[in-house]
Amino acid sequence: MTGERSRELGAVLGMYEREFPRGQRETRASVRRWLHAKAAGRLEPNDYHILVATARGDGRVAAFAFFHYLADINSGFLGYMAVRRTLRNHGIGRWLFGQVKLRLGEDATQRGFGVPEGVFMELEVEDATPEVDARLRFWQRVDALPLRLQWQYPRLQRGAAPAEMYLAFCPMRGAGRRIPAERVRRAVVSIYRHVYGKGADDPNLFHVLDSIGTVAYVGRAHRGR
Ligand SMILES: CC(C)(COP(=O)(O)OP(=O)(O)OC[C@H]1O[C@@H](n2cnc3c(N)ncnc32)[C@H](O)[C@@H]1OP(=O)(O)O)[C@@H](O)C(=O)NCCC(=O)NCCS
Repeated sequence: MTGERSRELGAVLGMYEREFPRGQRETRASVRRWLHAKAAGRLEPNDYHILVATARGDGRVAAFAFFHYLADINSGFLGYMAVRRTLRNHGIGRWLFGQVKLRLGEDATQRGFGVPEGVFMELEVEDATPEVDARLRFWQRVDALPLRLQWQYPRLQRGAAPAEMYLAFCPMRGAGRRIPAERVRRAVVSIYRHVYGKGADDPNLFHVLDSIGTVAYVGRAHRGR
């Protein structure tokens, strides 16, 4: 990594730590591990990306997105995305999410797949604060809906309380609100394994899979835990 790239990564990680509380984020070391594994080709056939947008005027980081491409489900998993506070409500978030989907489309093409199924992400449950409500509104506007299951969000840092989150999905093929339960099940297993490094015998994974049921799933908020 060049000095320039490494300075930019430092700025992105600084903003990331300001935007996400400790219980909701990975450590810097873990983000760097993803980047090293990517550079060494160890993530194949999956991938990990950090997209950074810098402001034309001052060259500072304006927005970023950290996300995974998961080949076994031909989908993305958006870990974190943020827009600098002073630049919000100008369409940058929507634009950046569009760039994430474009990149996922390229990942799929490179592996000989068609358009990705969509993007999974974790959203905070409503807590009646205007900030969280605005965030949920944003995701609704870009067609990301909470899945009907009891998501168990793994503890990301020792000592940090796990946050209460939904697992949400934004389809990239059509605008259907129904996803077969089997597809949701495969996605949950893939996210636990490839994003969180949990084995198939993880008790939280059993709990999540149990909560999915057997009927076709329709996106709608459901409180976890
Ligand atoms: C969520 C987040 C990424 C949205 O970014 P943003 O750049 O403000 O998003 P947009 O500008 O595209 O959309 C926000 C609102 O501005 C409105 N908007 C978009 N373009 C606009 C424009 N040109 N003029 C005025 N308003 C506009 C949108 O309609 C939207 O309204 P809504 O929230 O009521 O739906 C940002 O609030 C953020 O960084 N939050 C903290 C971190 C976070 O929560 N990340 C998400 C979880 S990973």
